[in-house]
Amino acid sequence: MSQATNQSWGGRFSEPTDAFVARFTASVTFDQRLARQDIQGSIAHATMLARVGVLTDDERDAIINGLNEIQGEIERGEFNWSVPLEDVHMNIEARLTDKIGITGKKLHTGRSRNDQVATDIRLFMRDEIDVIEVELKRLREGMIELADREADTIMPGFTHLQTAQPVTFGHHILAWQEMLSRDHERLLDCRKRVNVMPLGAAALAGTTYPIDRHVTAELLGFDRPAENSLDAVSDRDFAIEFTSFASILLMHLSRMSEELVLWTSAQFNFIDLPDRFCTGSSIMPQKKNPDVPELVRGKTGRVYGHLMALLTLMKSQPLAYNKDNQEDKEPLFDAVDTVRDCLKAFADMVPAIEPKKASMVEAARRGFSTATDLADYLVRKGVAFRDAHEIVGHSVAYGLKTEKDLSEMSLEELKQFSDIIEQDVFEVLTLEGSVAARNHIGGTAPNQVRAAAQRARDALSALKAGAA
Ligand code: ARG
Repeated sequence: MSQATNQSWGGRFSEPTDAFVARFTASVTFDQRLARQDIQGSIAHATMLARVGVLTDDERDAIINGLNEIQGEIERGEFNWSVPLEDVHMNIEARLTDKIGITGKKLHTGRSRNDQVATDIRLFMRDEIDVIEVELKRLREGMIELADREADTIMPGFTHLQTAQPVTFGHHILAWQEMLSRDHERLLDCRKRVNVMPLGAAALAGTTYPIDRHVTAELLGFDRPAENSLDAVSDRDFAIEFTSFASILLMHLSRMSEELVLWTSAQFNFIDLPDRFCTGSSIMPQKKNPDVPELVRGKTGRVYGHLMALLTLMKSQPLAYNKDNQEDKEPLFDAVDTVRDCLKAFADMVPAIEPKKASMVEAARRGFSTATDLADYLVRKGVAFRDAHEIVGHSVAYGLKTEKDLSEMSLEELKQFSDIIEQDVFEVLTLEGSVAARNHIGGTAPNQVRAAAQRARDALSALKAGAA
């Protein structure tokens, strides 16, 4: 079957394409995913050609009706994709000609598959970015509400994964939310450069027909036509930008995943994840595994891989279009699917996180997390910080020996280390006192967390897709 010479370009060929070469060079098995955008682009192109007098209105109508019917065939799964026809563009054009005859062959006037495919991917990416943005917003909203709800919940904060100082759980979740706010900006910024129209660049140099690229751009919702035809057909920066956005986002999600995995372990025992986000073990009946965060953590690798693949794909490519660029699609498609699914998983899961408050507080207490507060207390009473540090060090050593937290020692016990210490020390040694004292913008005090959640909510509702 693949022995036939391709009807779209076979004119100058004297022997049919080798069967293996036809399969090797074909992209229709994966680029059929661009069918909707390909038809959308073709309808706009035909509309513009009629407006400038290259097609008659009847020809335009026949083409548009035919394309709409083809869209229906594809949606109903009736379309017969043919590998010898190489790619999505030629499959659809051939079907159009089957349906409406010679007029179908006029659709390609003033255009090339080079500007056509670049346009299709940009339309596709714009659609996908908008879907991804909805999930990203939903996740950010879920985090903000969880943080607000848990503004008073105390947990240990860590450095080096060692208990450092008490923080509020809400503050920790808002740290995640900050990461996502930067990802959100990167996504919207990427969208600006996606939304530029290559169509009209034709193969590489433009076309001799009196096309009006502003008309086509407006019909397709592009911000503007691409400035330079050579760049327009060859530029894939937007694909690299999207996968770098995706890589940074997945790096963030992998960090959150790691914490969720730790927190659900019996050793930490900080949170519970509802059963619907976990699975069991086929051999160990007691197991409840945090598969969703583990899998998100694991999927980070393939997204980094796609970024590397696209950077390397574009490296050293001479202008203008090269067949190499057909290799842009599979990494992009997989990056889009992975990002969307990981965000959906997180957006569903985050609001369902149940903190085990008693266990978190206990962990904060066990780790001498208010030691810095005692040092600060001594400094406020006139002790130099370095001396205060040493005094508290001795208190902690005593606490380790006697298995007592600083707040569990009597005033007499504390006075062994400094007689400056008075009854009022217990206000700063409690976990509640410690977090409440960090009462400035960006601090962990519950009222600051609630104010930060409100600012995050406002910032999020001020963002508009495609704006920024
Ligand atoms: N399938 C091709 C791609 O994805 C379409 C453009 C082919 N252009 C060409 N001159 N062979 O890049």
